[in-house]
Amino acid sequence: MVNELLIIVLLCLMVWGYWRNHGADDAYPPGPPTIPVLGNLWTLRFQLHHDTFIQLSRVYGDVYTVWLGHIPVIVLNGYRAVKEVLSSHNEDYIGRPVFPLFMDLMGEKGIVLTSGHTWKQQRRFGQVVFRNLGLGKGNMEMGIQEEAQSLLTLFATQEGAPMDPSPWIMHSVSNVISALVFGKRFPLENKAFQELHKATELVVAAPGTFWARIYDLVPNIMRHLPGPHQRAFHYFHTMCSFIQSEVQGHHEMLRNGSRGPGQERNVIDYYLTQISKTQGDPNSTYNEENLVHLVADLFMTGTETVTTTLRWAILYMMVFPEIQGKVQLELDTVLEPSHVIAYEDRKRLPYTNAVIHEIQRFGNIVSVGVVRKCMKETKLGRFKVPQGTIILPNLSSVLYDPEQWKTPREFNPQHFLDENGTFVTKEAFLPFSAGHRGCLGEQLARTELFIFFSNLLQRFSFHVPEGDSDVRLDCVQSATLQPYPYRVCAVLR
Ligand code: HEM
Ligand SMILES: *[C@@H]1O[C@H](CO)[C@@H](O)[C@H](O)[C@H]1NC(C)=O
Ligand SMILES: *[C@@H]1O[C@H](CO)[C@@H](O)[C@H](O)[C@H]1NC(C)=O
Ligand SMILES: *[C@@H]1O[C@H](CO)[C@@H](O)[C@H](O)[C@H]1NC(C)=O
Repeated sequence: MVNELLIIVLLCLMVWGYWRNHGADDAYPPGPPTIPVLGNLWTLRFQLHHDTFIQLSRVYGDVYTVWLGHIPVIVLNGYRAVKEVLSSHNEDYIGRPVFPLFMDLMGEKGIVLTSGHTWKQQRRFGQVVFRNLGLGKGNMEMGIQEEAQSLLTLFATQEGAPMDPSPWIMHSVSNVISALVFGKRFPLENKAFQELHKATELVVAAPGTFWARIYDLVPNIMRHLPGPHQRAFHYFHTMCSFIQSEVQGHHEMLRNGSRGPGQERNVIDYYLTQISKTQGDPNSTYNEENLVHLVADLFMTGTETVTTTLRWAILYMMVFPEIQGKVQLELDTVLEPSHVIAYEDRKRLPYTNAVIHEIQRFGNIVSVGVVRKCMKETKLGRFKVPQGTIILPNLSSVLYDPEQWKTPREFNPQHFLDENGTFVTKEAFLPFSAGHRGCLGEQLARTELFIFFSNLLQRFSFHVPEGDSDVRLDCVQSATLQPYPYRVCAVLR
């Protein structure tokens, strides 16, 4: 099936694809040789996250260009090159490119895929609303603490028998986001909730797939063909209608007076207030379409990332029992048994904090990171990069930069500790990217990771099930870099 599709697509390409050309090649740093129409897609085997990149950076250095069909992408490797582009004073690279598949799927709406004026407004709204909802003030933290408790209860029902922890982690983590955006949590079996997860999975995984490369190459053809992309469209529309109906519910509450300005409790409430506040402002981008996409953005970015990190966390703890033991010793020594763990406690728990940072560094879930777009012509080294050029700041190359880490390819919490066991921050710790376009949910994610992880280790010891000897530490290439499915015994301490 895939092969036939490829042949059809290649034939179509031959007919009209030759019309396109690369344009001003010398504006771009050198990279591997291209072939007509496909650029470097053949070399990359049509996938963005492929191992061939390793060889490319060895040959072409820290800054090189790959051609995805007729679209050039400048890849940056290493802390120094990446930091220059991400640093907060540098607004040249603050845009987000949208490839044809995502243009058709989501359009330039919400936060993640917008640039310029719309992005500025939506992003500012996101920051203000996170602050209002109490991130850093404790309200939101309470929600996380409750979800952590319910996760402990679920784990405990297994009584130490081997289990796949992923669905439960996913459930707890996405309920944190649900409470934030919808103002409610969902039971595990809820049908709509499961569809939201399905949508998230398909949409988030899409950019890394073979068919996405084909779609971006020939969108006019793919739009009309059946294939996996149609499933992504279907589920994303389901997600949007679900959000739409939630928004409708919040409208009701506004109309019957049970909610209003000053009584907002979640993202949708605040957004509706914002829409009415800015009515009549011709520059306002606050409308229901952007609201739906913003909620979808938060749900999708907030679920998979934290879930995957926690899956790595449990895996590493069961594979490195001495480290697990040290974390537990610290938790037992510092915390009173009845104490409700808060983010603030990280300051008293330097080892635990260091281990969480090392999980994020070593787990490297975002891999090469997220593409950016130049908002104006700009100088990159000796090259004059045109406006609109796509840049890929390779985050993985920073988290594994041999100049920045003592043992980059080894799980080693000492990366974040000094000789006295005090926690130290590292500039090259960039799993959330950085600058004005860096992760909007960084603070939320850090709070979640700390509270979930500390609670889990305080209550349970994680062991490799008897017979599961070949636990793998390498990763599955999906939307994020994920562990291979594994089983674990969570034994009450
Ligand atoms: C371990 C967890 C997480 C990691 C590693 C992570 C990482 C990232 C990265 C690398 C980016 C791209 C930034 C760039 O272009 O420079 C990003 C963007 C984003 N993240 Fe996260 N993230 C995490 C959790 C979250 C959570 C919990 C949320 C909350 C809802 C969130 C919301 C967002 C949003 C909205 C963006 C788009 C920002 C924009 O385009 O302006 N993330 N994240
Ligand atoms: C990103 O960096 C990692 C680690 O150095 C490397 O293995 C990978 O090939 C790089 N990816 C690209 C696209 O250059
Ligand atoms: C709308 O934007 C234009 C151009 O940026 C600006 O000149 C104008 O003052 C803005 N109007 C309002 C009402 O903010
Ligand atoms: C570690 O502690 C010793 C004794 O208190 C102190 O002299 C030294 O400066 C500390 N080292 C660091 C890196 O803070």
